[in-house]
Amino acid sequence: MTKGELKYEGKAKKVYATDNPETYIVEYKDDATAFNAQKRGTIANKGIVNNAVTSRLFTYLASFDVPTHFIEQLSEREQLVKAVKIIPIEVIVRNKTAGSFAKRYGVEEGIVLTPTVLEWCYKSDALGDPPLNDVTAIALGLASPDELETMMDLAMDINDGLITFFANRGLELIDFKIEFGKLPSGEIILADEISPDTCRLWDTASGERMDKDRFRRDLGNVEGAYQEVFKRVMGDANA
Ligand SMILES: Nc1ncnc2c1ncn2[C@@H]1O[C@H](COP(=O)(O)OP(=O)(O)OP(=O)(O)O)[C@@H](O)[C@H]1O
Ligand SMILES: [Mg+2]
Repeated sequence: MTKGELKYEGKAKKVYATDNPETYIVEYKDDATAFNAQKRGTIANKGIVNNAVTSRLFTYLASFDVPTHFIEQLSEREQLVKAVKIIPIEVIVRNKTAGSFAKRYGVEEGIVLTPTVLEWCYKSDALGDPPLNDVTAIALGLASPDELETMMDLAMDINDGLITFFANRGLELIDFKIEFGKLPSGEIILADEISPDTCRLWDTASGERMDKDRFRRDLGNVEGAYQEVFKRVMGDANA
């Protein structure tokens, strides 16, 4: 598989064309940003961790019928994926309060949310990813009602699967952000990544944060936490 033209360079990954128009190569970088890129840095070997973790999680999710863009891991930092048109909606699932949600509503972090919260945000760095509700997303032409329903159902299935997967590895899934893409057929599939950059993971035993909040909040041992998540995810605990 040869790497073609650079299609897109984001904050965490580069996306390349291949000799097949239906596939892209994604390369994971060590660059880290937070607070809409106001804070920038690097996390040593993050690209290696996030590529491996995403590959493992997408393979796991596919095993119970979640359609994903993942085809295969090509190298430490690269994976082959199906080319999609990204739906410009960030889908956020929250099991417990944390981060911007806790701040927005003036509540402590770590409170159980019942029912599980699903939020949509408009994927626009220029606008700071503003929140959307269903009718706003539809009226702006970002997705159809059926597409929103599909994304909601898939997001809840993904949450159920990931909660179990991480619990078996001593990690609590607090919240996460995913992106979906559309194939030329119109089918909606899970795209982008699922990693410590895009999930909040708290160590079950100690409550310690094992995700990008260590970078956002200058908690120290950022690389160590990513390495620990890598070790647990790639270990042979039951799915
Ligand atoms: N299968 C795919 N096909 C096409 N684009 C994809 C695919 N998977 C992920 N992408 C896109 O690749 C881009 C690069 O990822 P990265 O995480 O670096 O972006 P980002 O800095 O978070 O910026 P953005 O605001 O564009 O998401 C993102 O825009 C993401 O939506
Ligand atoms: Mg991203």
